[in-house]
Amino acid sequence: MLPEVLEAMLPWLHGNHANPSGVYRAAKLARKAMDEARGHVAELIGADAGEIVFTGTGTESVNTALRSLDELTGEGSAIVSAIEHSAVLRFVENCKRKVSKIPVHADGRVDLDAFESACATAAYVSVMSANNETGVIQPLAELIAIAREHGLPIHSDAVQAVGKIPVDVRREAVDLLSISGHKFHGPKGVGALYVRSGLDFHAMIHGGGQENGRRSGTENVAGIVAMGEAARRAKIALETGEAERIREMRDAFENLVMGGVSGCMRNGDIAFRLPNTSHLSFESCDAAGLLILLDEAGVACSAGSACMTGKRQPSHVQLAMGLSEVRAKTRLRFSFSRLNTRDEVEKAAEITIRAVEKLRRVQGTGIGPVAIHHG
Ligand SMILES: Cc1ncc(COP(=O)(O)O)c(C=O)c1O
Repeated sequence: MLPEVLEAMLPWLHGNHANPSGVYRAAKLARKAMDEARGHVAELIGADAGEIVFTGTGTESVNTALRSLDELTGEGSAIVSAIEHSAVLRFVENCKRKVSKIPVHADGRVDLDAFESACATAAYVSVMSANNETGVIQPLAELIAIAREHGLPIHSDAVQAVGKIPVDVRREAVDLLSISGHKFHGPKGVGALYVRSGLDFHAMIHGGGQENGRRSGTENVAGIVAMGEAARRAKIALETGEAERIREMRDAFENLVMGGVSGCMRNGDIAFRLPNTSHLSFESCDAAGLLILLDEAGVACSAGSACMTGKRQPSHVQLAMGLSEVRAKTRLRFSFSRLNTRDEVEKAAEITIRAVEKLRRVQGTGIGPVAIHHG
C-alpha cells in the first residue's frame, strides 16, 4: 500500500466506526466517503459511479460477474481463454454448462480465429485484459468486436491491467469488468465490479441489499476508502508518465540480466505486455531453487503466479503458450512498481545474475535443485 493510502484508511479504522447504512451523522460521513471512493474507482476505468459495485476481493468480483452471466444467459457454452486466472477457470469448471477454452499463440495472446469459431455456439464470454503470469495484454477490442457480432455479453478480468495501463470501459465497450485494490497500491481484501448501466444483473450474495442490492453485506468502509484513494492516485500516476518510468526500470533489469547470464529468455509478447512485469526463463536453472536463492538475498519474486509458487509443475499458462516442460520449470516472474528505485533494480539484477551462476555451479556438481527443500 502507498503510505498515503494507509493514511486515508486509518480514520475509518480507529475514528469513525459507523455503519454506512445508518441514519446518524457518522454513518452519513461514512456513506459520503464511500461515494467519493466509488467516484475515484469509476474515473480510473472511465465508468459512472453508479456502475461500480464494491466486492470483497478481485476473485469475488469475477465470481459475481460470471454468476450473473451464467444465471441470465440462455443455452450455449461459456467462452474463456486457456490462460485465465483460477478465479475464472475454477468458476466455469464448476458450472453446469460446457466450457470452451480458447488457445493462445506462443506469444501468449488469444487466438482470434479459434475465438470467433467458438462464438457461434456460446452464451457468454470472459477474457482477461492482461495475464497475471506473463503480463501479456490481450487483444480485448478485437475480441469484444467479435463477441458483439454474435450478440454475446462479455466480462473481462482486468485485475492485473487496471492501474498499470489505461483501461476505459466505454472505449472497450465491455459489459462487466473486475478489479482488485491490492493490484494498484490499495489494500488486500477489497475489489470492485463494473456493471454496465442497463445490463441485466443477478446478484450472487443476497442479504441486506447493500450496493443497490447487487452485493449484500455491511461494507468494508476503510478498505473501500483506501481503494478509492489508490484509484485516484493510480489515475494521476498514469497521466503523469509513471508507467513509462516503471517500464524503463523493467527494461533496464531485463537488459542487465540478459546481458549478464547466458541462456536467459523472455516469455510472451514483448510489445503487448504490462510495463511492470518480466517473465524470464533461465536455461538449466530450476526456478524453485532460484526462487530460494533470490529470497535469501532479498529479492521477492515468484515462479509463475503467486498461486503457483511452491508448485513444481509448469502452470496452465505456460503449457497453453507451448513452452516445453523443461523451459517452463526454469521461469520466474519479476514485477516492479512505482515504489521501486533504479538502484534497487540494478541490485536485483546483480543478485539474479549471481544466483543463476551459483545454481548452475551447484547443479553441475549433481546436488542440484532436488537437494533444495522448498516446502
Ligand atoms: C488476473 C487476476 N484475476 C483475479 C485475481 C484475484 O484477485 P484477488 O487476489 O483480489 O482475489 C488475481 C490476483 O492475483 C489476478 O491476478
